[in-house]
Amino acid sequence: MARINVIYARSLNHCIGKGGSLPWHLPKEYAHFKKTTLGHPIIMGRKTYEDHKSVLPGRLNIVITRQKDYQALPGIELVASLEEGIELARQHSDDIFIIGGVHFFTQGVAMADRVYETVVDVEIDGDAYLPNFDFSQWRTETLLTHEPDERNKLKFTAYLHQR
Ligand SMILES: NC(=O)c1ccc[n+]([C@@H]2O[C@H](COP(=O)([O-])OP(=O)(O)OC[C@H]3O[C@@H](n4cnc5c(N)ncnc54)[C@H](OP(=O)(O)O)[C@@H]3O)[C@@H](O)[C@H]2O)c1
Repeated sequence: MARINVIYARSLNHCIGKGGSLPWHLPKEYAHFKKTTLGHPIIMGRKTYEDHKSVLPGRLNIVITRQKDYQALPGIELVASLEEGIELARQHSDDIFIIGGVHFFTQGVAMADRVYETVVDVEIDGDAYLPNFDFSQWRTETLLTHEPDERNKLKFTAYLHQR
């Protein structure tokens, strides 16, 4: 049985996106995302894909859309639901990562074995928000704490919640 992982970064007020993009520029947080997901299938909604519009290297990229004629870059696997994406992903790895957006994080956390959550120490006025997930019954460890620096101007903390 493949392990289902969810990975996201949110602000203190649970915002994850603004205007179709991430509401911050944090290369160090992105490096954490890359290191964690590398070598594993990543599943995302069509809008999350369009935010970067590329094939993230070293990972099977699976994009969920209802559009039957959607044109994606070569190397992108298109599916019509999260379930279909998981079915495809499990043929390639024992670890599957759900990487956005709101609907798939919400659906994903309900079924996940592990949630990689980064909390960015800022309040954002955006347009994509997560519900307040309750991890009080999960085992939580802190993976990384970052203090603001020249290239990563916001403080953030990366957690791993295991069910
Ligand atoms: N902070 C983070 O960790 C993080 C991570 C990822 C994304 N984001 C941000 O979140 C925003 C994008 O997320 P989003 O929630 O707006 O969109 P999204 O989940 O990435 O994509 C939504 C699209 O997925 C497809 N979809 C949704 N539900 C579906 C279903 N049940 N069955 C089949 N297809 C379905 C539809 O595509 P079609 O319209 O093509 O049918 C829908 O328009 C951006 O701002 C992005 O930067 C943040």
